[in-house]
Amino acid sequence: MLRVEGLTKKFGGLLAVNKVSFTAHKGEVLALIGPNGAGKTTVFNLISGALRPTAGQVYLEGKPIGGKKPYQVAKMGIARTFQTTTVFDQLKVLDNLLVAHKLRTSSGLVDTILRTRRWKKELEESRARAMEVLDFIGLKEKALAPVQVLTQEERKRLAIGVALATGPKVLLLDEPTAGLLQEETEGIFGLIKSLKQRGMTVCVIEHKMRMVMNLADRVVVLNYGHKIAEGTPEEVSRNELVIQAYLGGEHVA
Ligand SMILES: Nc1ncnc2c1ncn2[C@@H]1O[C@H](COP(=O)(O)OP(=O)(O)O)[C@@H](O)[C@H]1O
Ligand SMILES: [Mg+2]
Repeated sequence: MLRVEGLTKKFGGLLAVNKVSFTAHKGEVLALIGPNGAGKTTVFNLISGALRPTAGQVYLEGKPIGGKKPYQVAKMGIARTFQTTTVFDQLKVLDNLLVAHKLRTSSGLVDTILRTRRWKKELEESRARAMEVLDFIGLKEKALAPVQVLTQEERKRLAIGVALATGPKVLLLDEPTAGLLQEETEGIFGLIKSLKQRGMTVCVIEHKMRMVMNLADRVVVLNYGHKIAEGTPEEVSRNELVIQAYLGGEHVA
């Protein structure tokens, strides 16, 4: 589904990502782990078109996406969330999703101004789709609430919903449980689990090892921009390089 090949990013003299290759198969949860500064977020930025790779290529279903703009990548079917939650506080919950869905619809400005039939049809479709997403992320009852009243965990859910509203084939989640309490974390794990059950391909950057061990089909480990290991959670948790680099000598499980 998603293939990254020889992906490299230099920031001045710093090799933030160094010849990283991996594949996320359809319907699997692939965890991207590694110490802070390992290059995980940069990999997401390269995949989503926020950054241009210094070298290497990203393929979605075999099609190269390197050099495309973020909105083009999103249209092709890759959606992401950010390490810090980015939802519009002033908007209602539902409207956050409608804004996101707009990306996928074809009406231009003229349609919107003239309120053409196509525009109306698309708006209805967007609403229906947005309500479906809200139902899925468990925020249907709060559709018309302003984002300000949501808890941290609900905001994280909404951010995932916003990504889902674009109808992606691949979802990139950057630390979806960062800053949450233990019991709130469970809610997000559950949501990722149901995404997987629905056949979504998910790449997730996550520090909570219990989540990685329970949820990920495979794990890719980065350290100083290099991929140092790849395998099942069991395999990487027994890998000496990983134990040294990432866990400071402690065993995961
Ligand atoms: N836009 C940027 N400009 C310069 N350096 C950056 C930029 N983004 C990230 N870096 C550097 O690249 C390295 C990898 O960062 P990042 O991908 O955010 O790591 P991670 O997400 O694994 O914690 C870090 O040393 C970071 O300081
Ligand atoms: Mg990061």
